[in-house]
Amino acid sequence: MTKIFAHRGFSANYPENTMIAFVEAEKAKADGIEIDIQMTKDGEIVIIHDEKVDRTTNGSGFVQQLSYKELRALNAGHRFKYSNKESIPTLSELFEWMQGNSIICNIEMKNNKISYEGMEEKTINLIRQYGFEKRIIFSSFNHYSLVHSYRIAPEIETAPLLSDGIYQPWIYANAINAKGFHPNYKRLNGEIIRASESNNIKVRAYTVNNSKTMRALMKEGISAIITDEPIIAREILTQL
Ligand code: G3P
Ligand code: CA
Repeated sequence: MTKIFAHRGFSANYPENTMIAFVEAEKAKADGIEIDIQMTKDGEIVIIHDEKVDRTTNGSGFVQQLSYKELRALNAGHRFKYSNKESIPTLSELFEWMQGNSIICNIEMKNNKISYEGMEEKTINLIRQYGFEKRIIFSSFNHYSLVHSYRIAPEIETAPLLSDGIYQPWIYANAINAKGFHPNYKRLNGEIIRASESNNIKVRAYTVNNSKTMRALMKEGISAIITDEPIIAREILTQL
């Protein structure tokens, strides 16, 4: 059955990539969450989509140039005009919460625009510390980083992000030791889904928010959809 991954948590209704968005995604019966990671000046792995804090918080500047203490003072619920302050979570904070549930976590390493020295190693160490090797899927637009991660930790699944259509993506995924790939849903068709899934390569499409598209992909037997709307996705899946 198709799995539902809440994109940046339940980001349609809650501030993206915050603990409240992850907690609500789990309550909405998402099988997994998709998160984005960057690294602070002092080497803390934090959950935030952009290289800069400007769009999602009340602060400004590059994550890479801020200390964890500086970053922690910001309000990541700012855009949602929350009365409660939502901090930018650390990966450890997320893992602490994951100890109390069985949610899967797709970690997107945002190291395609900025390079973060040692990000893969730090993340893998933390995953191993919590024993979450089988609950994590690494994805990235930086496929070299996925290959690097696989060399260090072949027990952790990887999946390249594909924004453009490529020929026979299941062969490409297999060639870089990935167990799946995460394409833009606009670049997908039934044939690609069927060929990939029958070759044991999982397809998890992003970012699918339209009900008609969700239904069509689910009917084709796609492994997962990554969506801002986990409640709608669950309703559709239940009706199939
Ligand atoms: O993981 C799929 C999707 O999240 C990639 O795009 O920009 O939302 O991180 P973006
Ligand atoms: Ca992402």
